[in-house]
Amino acid sequence: IPFVVAENAQEIAQTVAAEIAALIRERNAEGRSTVLGLATGNTPILLYRELVRLHREEGLDFSRVITFNLDEYYPMQPDSSQSYHYFMHHHLFDHVNVPASQIHIPDGFLSRDAIADFCAAYEQKIQQAGGLDFQLLGIGENGHIGFNEPGSARDSRTRLVRLDATTRRNAAGDFGGEDLVPREAISMGVATILEARRIVLIATGSKKATIMQKVLHSAASSDIPATFLQLHENATIYVDTAAHASLV
Ligand code: F6R
Repeated sequence: IPFVVAENAQEIAQTVAAEIAALIRERNAEGRSTVLGLATGNTPILLYRELVRLHREEGLDFSRVITFNLDEYYPMQPDSSQSYHYFMHHHLFDHVNVPASQIHIPDGFLSRDAIADFCAAYEQKIQQAGGLDFQLLGIGENGHIGFNEPGSARDSRTRLVRLDATTRRNAAGDFGGEDLVPREAISMGVATILEARRIVLIATGSKKATIMQKVLHSAASSDIPATFLQLHENATIYVDTAAHASLV
C-alpha cells in the first residue's frame, strides 16, 4: 500500500483536505455529486477543521456532497454528546453547506429488530448515490477500521458488531468509565469500505506505531482488518513521524 510519512498531523490534514477539495471542485464543475465516506475519532479533527476553513475562506461548496459515516455506537441517542452524530455536526456539518438530506450516519437509536433492515438500506443508499468516491479511515490500536474489529470478514457489510475490549477501554474516557461504553455498534463492513474508489487511512501519534508496523508487515487477514487495504488498488496510508517511529 502506498505509504506516506509526514512531519506532523497538521501536514497530513492539509494534504488530505486538499485532495478531498480537489475532488469536490472537479465534481461540482461537472454538476455531479461527490460521495464521501467519513470517520470520527481524534484523527480526522484537524482534517475537518481544514475543510471548514476551505469552505469559509476559499468558497469550497459542499452543496453536492453526499456523506456516509462509517459507524455509530449502539445503543446511542443521536443528541448525546458521545454520539458520532454529535461529533460530525460539531466538527464538520454545522460549519459547511452539506444539505441535511445528504448526510447519512448509522442510527444508534433503532429498536434491535429494525437493525438488519436499516443496515441493508444503508448499503443500498450508498449504491444509489453512485458508490463511495472517497473513504476516510482512522485505525484502532487493535487494527480495526470503522468498527470492524479483529475477526471481521473480508466480505462483511454494514451490520451490528460487538466492540472489542481494547476499543471499549480506549473509549472509557469519553463515557466516564469502561462499563459505560456501549458494547455494540453499527458499522459499515470491510466489503463496504473496499468498494470505495479511493481510500485514505490516517494514523497519527505514537500509540498507533505498533499496529502500523503490523499492518505494513502482515498479510491481509481478519486478524488485523486494516491489512485488507492491501487488496485495494487505490489506497494510501498517511502516518506522522510518531506513528512511524518503530517502523524501522
Ligand atoms: C471512527 C472509526 C474508528 C476510528 C479509530 C481511531 O469512526 O471508525 O475506526 O477511526 O478507532 O480512533 P482515533 O482517531 O480516535 O484514534
